[in-house]
Amino acid sequence: MQQRGEDLLEAARKELRDSRPLGAAHHERASRVLPRGTTRARFWEPMPIYVKKAQGAYLTDVDGRDYCDFNLGQGALVLGHAHPAVVAALEAQLERGTHFGPPTHNRIQLAELIVESVPGADRVAFVNSGTEATMGALRIARKATGRSKVGKVEGGWHGANEFVLHSFTTLSGDAARPDANLDSLGVSSVATKNVIVLPFNDERAFDRIREARDELACVIVEPVLGGGGCLPAEPSFLEGLRAVCSEIGAVLILDEVITGYRLGPRGAAGRYGVTGDLTTLGKAAGGGLPIGVICGRGDLMDETMWPASGAPGDAVFAGGTFSGNPMTMAAGVATVGELVHHAEHYRHLEELGEGLRVGLRRALCEVGAPAFVTGVGSMVGVHFCGTMPSNERDLVTTDHVAAQLLRVYLELDGFISRGLSFLSTAHTGEDVHRLVAAYERALRRLQTEGALGA
Ligand SMILES: Cc1ncc(COP(=O)(O)O)c(C=O)c1O
Repeated sequence: MQQRGEDLLEAARKELRDSRPLGAAHHERASRVLPRGTTRARFWEPMPIYVKKAQGAYLTDVDGRDYCDFNLGQGALVLGHAHPAVVAALEAQLERGTHFGPPTHNRIQLAELIVESVPGADRVAFVNSGTEATMGALRIARKATGRSKVGKVEGGWHGANEFVLHSFTTLSGDAARPDANLDSLGVSSVATKNVIVLPFNDERAFDRIREARDELACVIVEPVLGGGGCLPAEPSFLEGLRAVCSEIGAVLILDEVITGYRLGPRGAAGRYGVTGDLTTLGKAAGGGLPIGVICGRGDLMDETMWPASGAPGDAVFAGGTFSGNPMTMAAGVATVGELVHHAEHYRHLEELGEGLRVGLRRALCEVGAPAFVTGVGSMVGVHFCGTMPSNERDLVTTDHVAAQLLRVYLELDGFISRGLSFLSTAHTGEDVHRLVAAYERALRRLQTEGALGA
């Protein structure tokens, strides 16, 4: 069966390559200068979609094929592609200049919008990626507590910084006390020694945190595991983390790089009613341009980033050449302003998300496919695993061949939807119906080919 699945996958990938000759030529060219043509090859076998342009919920590739896009720049584009307000803001800034070093008015505007909307955000620091944001947040936590260790949950993704690049997909050890396993080679072993991996949606995590009370600087957690499979935290799990961090004096970092401005104007924190000491944002906050944001308690950020001594050696550094650059700030102000001040966007996103989950469950049931639908708001996951997953260990049984085949069949059919789908305000109910119908076609093809339920 395994061999049959691999053969089907190879045939589907060939179909994709053959039907997109210009894309295939781009990929061949890219492979001469980029590792395997793209550093994100894992997601896009046999080749990424080479994009010509995109507008709203739709994207066109270099072969002229249109796709309804449910990936949206890894979830960043909550307003869809090339939203008119974002384009206008970028054009206006472009005329004034793209990069100065000294700050601009729109940097203050975006910081004010974030303070207004993110629970617990008194201060804001801008960097250029989610990775830098989580890195800076960990440093603030270490400096504030004088402790060195970092707690992260199994299956949590917080970007490429050394300390959190552990146990995302490499799972081992007792479920209650997972091992810290590196997700990348080349990381210093010092990082691994300072990581405590916690079970997700499991209250035994709280005991582990208490045991480490003298050395644990912080716990970092996504309210909904995004890259780890669109798995929402149980409210009691987040509340428990909040309580136990306060109890032992550790900093709770809510990593809302995906969920910020996606799950509501106040992010997942507003939805769950749980406030982090620090919150990290990215993706949507930059309106489609590179961004990372560290925000949180004024005392924590002021004292660590600008200590009373004023000595640079006493301060946590977070920033860089392009941090808070005016183009990102312009797109961020346009996007965040639109989302925070128009509650109707979130009603629309909720309806679309719920419609997609219900439609996919019905399609899976009608086809008799052994898969489960997860998610919350405008994040929707589909999993070919044996049980309704609530943490990363439940996903160990995932049939990756079926999942890959499904993704390629959807792409052949004009839909970009990986295991985790994102919705934007530009999508319509009709787009969701069409995606459900495409899933049904793809699932029936898998069934006919004998690739389901191996
Ligand atoms: C929750 C979360 N945190 C951090 C990051 C890292 O962000 P970036 O890719 O911008 O470095 C990501 C990226 O997907 C993410 O999903």
